[in-house]
Amino acid sequence: MFVNQNHLFVMSIQIKSLAEYQASYKKSVEDPEGFWAEIADHFTWIKKWDHVLHNDMVTPDIRWFEGAQLNITENCLDRHIADKGDQIALLWEPNEVTDQPRSFTYRQLLEEVCKCANALKALGVQKGDRVCFYMPMIPEVAIGILACARIGATHSVVFAGFSSNALADRIKDAQAKIVMCSDYNRRGPKTIPVKAVVDEALSLGCDSVSHVLVNQTTGGDIAWDADRDVWWHDLVDKQDTTCKPEAMDAEDPLFVLYTSGSTGKPKGVVHTTAGYMVYTCYTFLNVFQYQQGDVYWCTADVGWVTGHSYIIYGPLLAGATTLMFEGVPGYPDIGRFWQVIDKYKVNQFYTAPTALRALMAAGWDEPDKYDFGSIKVLGSVGEPINEEAWRWYDAKIGRGKAPIVDTWWQTENGGIMISSLPGITDTKPCFAAYPQPGVQPVILDQNGAVVHDNNVEGLLCIKYPWPGMIRTTYGDHERCRTTYFAPYKGYYFTGDAAKRDEDGRYRIIGRVDDVINVSGHRIGTAEVEDAINQHPEIVESAVIGFPHDIKGQGIYAFVKSTKEVTDPEGMKKEIFEMVTKHIGPIAKPDVIQFVAQLPKTRSGKIMRRILRKIAENQYDQIGDISTLINPESVEEIKLGAIHL
Ligand code: WT7
Repeated sequence: MFVNQNHLFVMSIQIKSLAEYQASYKKSVEDPEGFWAEIADHFTWIKKWDHVLHNDMVTPDIRWFEGAQLNITENCLDRHIADKGDQIALLWEPNEVTDQPRSFTYRQLLEEVCKCANALKALGVQKGDRVCFYMPMIPEVAIGILACARIGATHSVVFAGFSSNALADRIKDAQAKIVMCSDYNRRGPKTIPVKAVVDEALSLGCDSVSHVLVNQTTGGDIAWDADRDVWWHDLVDKQDTTCKPEAMDAEDPLFVLYTSGSTGKPKGVVHTTAGYMVYTCYTFLNVFQYQQGDVYWCTADVGWVTGHSYIIYGPLLAGATTLMFEGVPGYPDIGRFWQVIDKYKVNQFYTAPTALRALMAAGWDEPDKYDFGSIKVLGSVGEPINEEAWRWYDAKIGRGKAPIVDTWWQTENGGIMISSLPGITDTKPCFAAYPQPGVQPVILDQNGAVVHDNNVEGLLCIKYPWPGMIRTTYGDHERCRTTYFAPYKGYYFTGDAAKRDEDGRYRIIGRVDDVINVSGHRIGTAEVEDAINQHPEIVESAVIGFPHDIKGQGIYAFVKSTKEVTDPEGMKKEIFEMVTKHIGPIAKPDVIQFVAQLPKTRSGKIMRRILRKIAENQYDQIGDISTLINPESVEEIKLGAIHL
């Protein structure tokens, strides 16, 4: 008798009722190792583990499924071939409505991945080498990522909106051997020169890079270095369609992904193989309640962790059909997202609040024109979803019939940590709600003591390891320890504050550190300040987040110049250029205020708390300024403040 293996796999690990959620949660706390071993058992292993967990949240030294060997692509691709080799794994909708969509069955995707893996080998890539990606949302980015995993190379994807400087920093930090890119990137009405940015980054001393593998998208003119640059169609297309998956140790790195923190330059979050695999697949199946045959669409960019875990790995591990969209929500018109849902009969739709707010503002009733009968689950990620956007999403896209999952997690977490389960637990606007099995959140007070009651607010930490968690920061383990594990001993510190309501649901309040969340993009205020301060006429600056209707948070920069600013508009333009050059357009301030002095303490520290209240237009909450060395600065800044 033909047994559908994938169906069995899904059946055996997916939570299907409230009682099952409660039982799984209970077991995951009482016997975490037994709990995760049972789930992991359903995957394909070259060799099973010796120990489920080595738990040291102090050093930290976290190891899951130690002793095991596996290849994640065997689980994403090969294992599905018998059952669903001809089922669509990846659907691709191009930027232009007039261009041809593309699709890959599981069998075709496996072949493409093998070809690309062989091409990487031909370029000299070996197990453990880093490969950097600077690519648009095209199928080849997924193929390339999986090709790395196939041969044990560590991928490091850089969002293609970052500047050449930011790209160069990341290439150098990871010592990448290869950069994969495209010639151009089509995004809405724009055509962005991608290869030119890579060329510029490589001119900034990226000595580790031997080759650039270039995928042709538009065929537009580009500069070419014959010793270094290789066309995808010249090299990949002629490769063999099989490639033996490399046997990876459970804790071998799978990828590095750079993210911003409150200090210094972005850090490379390192995820390893086995734990990440088990965690992304498990959370994907539960949070989206994916059923065989469904079409699932996550609108994130692969340059962020959401794209890694919930466009590529989670869905493919689960044997799903995952849709990738090249374009932007408003092109060619504000109905594009809705048209795509209707066209592909999308069943699960996962997007960011900032996109919802922009689309809601541009066309409140626009979704009414489309058929959303297929929609079963709606997801939100990246920042708190405000109640108005939640209600609109529910009414206009879900038509009141599709539960919304507000999924809270971070780059460092690997996968979704807190979220309702659709049709299983309740949902409540503004609440991410319930921890996933295996996740033990705690709320700490300002002294670091655990608050046990409900109806409390404080710092959100995680008390016990989960398989998808960060293992280290690339090349600097101490930074990992001091950022996440040293602040509250024995806990992973998230950097977020949260509330727990009377029924144990969590509501995320936002960051408590100097990280701001602009349109779901995580930006360190220190990075923006560093960029602004590069301007020869700027002495210092302070960058603060403020509430913004569409972006969630906007960027407010208080800037002190060496001399009186006679041409503020010209100066602002120069500041925009500095920020765009060093980080990218996403970090451009929404407001720039030139100030004579910044409020400082006696020890010379800028009083950000005060600037925050000014930026937020909450003058009555500025509080005591008597400890400042220059209290008069506050009045001056208030007079010149700009509120959009
Ligand atoms: C920060 C992590 C991993 C998803 C993409 C962002 C904020 C994320 C939510 C949510 C409220 C959220 C937090 C978190 N955040 N999801 N559902 N509700 N806040 O990943 O770039 O690593 O940012 O995004 O502040 O710490 P990231």
